[in-house]
Amino acid sequence: MNLSDLNDVAVAMVTPGKGILAADESTGTIKKRFDAIKVESTEESRRDYREMLFRSAEGMSYISGVILYDETIWQHGKDGTPLIKLIEQAGSIPGIKVDEGTHPLPFCPGETITTGLDRLADRLTKYYAQGARFAKWRAVIDIGNDIPSMTAIHVNAHALARYAALCQEAQIVPIVEPEVLMDGDHNIDRCYEVTRRVLNEVFRELRVQRVALEGMILKPNMVVPGKKSMKQASVQEVAEKTVRLLKECVPAAVPGIAFLSGGQSDEEATAHLDAMNRIGHLPWRLTFSYGRALQATPQKAWSGKAENLAAGQRAFAHRAHMNGLASLGQWAAELERKAA
Ligand code: 13P
Repeated sequence: MNLSDLNDVAVAMVTPGKGILAADESTGTIKKRFDAIKVESTEESRRDYREMLFRSAEGMSYISGVILYDETIWQHGKDGTPLIKLIEQAGSIPGIKVDEGTHPLPFCPGETITTGLDRLADRLTKYYAQGARFAKWRAVIDIGNDIPSMTAIHVNAHALARYAALCQEAQIVPIVEPEVLMDGDHNIDRCYEVTRRVLNEVFRELRVQRVALEGMILKPNMVVPGKKSMKQASVQEVAEKTVRLLKECVPAAVPGIAFLSGGQSDEEATAHLDAMNRIGHLPWRLTFSYGRALQATPQKAWSGKAENLAAGQRAFAHRAHMNGLASLGQWAAELERKAA
């Protein structure tokens, strides 16, 4: 492992004014997104959609890295150019999702473990040869009456650290993603407390397994109330609680934190990131690694029609620009209205 090179990549992934595009929806998930815009999900339609994003010069100017799904990393654009080359030509770093999804965790009703460690070392070698310089693994923790259990937190943190160590050995920067879901009716303080337990266990496992913190990126949830909570939170409260929690749990050696959007609306995800960066004096860079919050509007604008490619690219460029500004603490709600 060359830690200095890993650190260079990690630092580039959180370049000021830029963030990460999570375009790594599995075949099942992208089908759900396409169903919502009445587009049939085929190898070709998935390719056309993602090619549209990667060919958006303006949109990609705010994107430091793109997380790909296995299918996409081997695909070619309509003119035969490998999609991964389009990303590189846009000045962005290609990355790859390497987890194989969640499965029920034995003896822990309602909880899951993320799988994909078997043969991961071989897969990482192939992905590196294909051009991937970072990877992603998502662990999922749900909040409910009797969950999360210590067991689910521990085994998921252990797997995240196993994955991260294997990545660094393969000269790939791991994005470590422990996602505490915002699906329940819990309040913001319960999210704080659960996320703290999760992050503490994740960093404990990373230390035990000798992962170099300078060569990784953390991808956490923000501290937010559950979607069904009676009490929603202001932008300022989310920003302050998230920053306070991260300062408690995330060592300054980590170069950057790139949030998931997790079901927040596009504008909420942008406003929260902006408010955090306005707090300032942070030991790490804070940016976005959004899936839905970057892609919902371009998907709708495109709707599977070749004549809508330019409209899809414009919608993507706008969201990427807004989030790029938020990564600097320079976004303003008026900029959204102006665009509308
Ligand atoms: P969302 O921003 O839609 O939560 O997706 C980010 C991601 O990569 C989840 O693993």
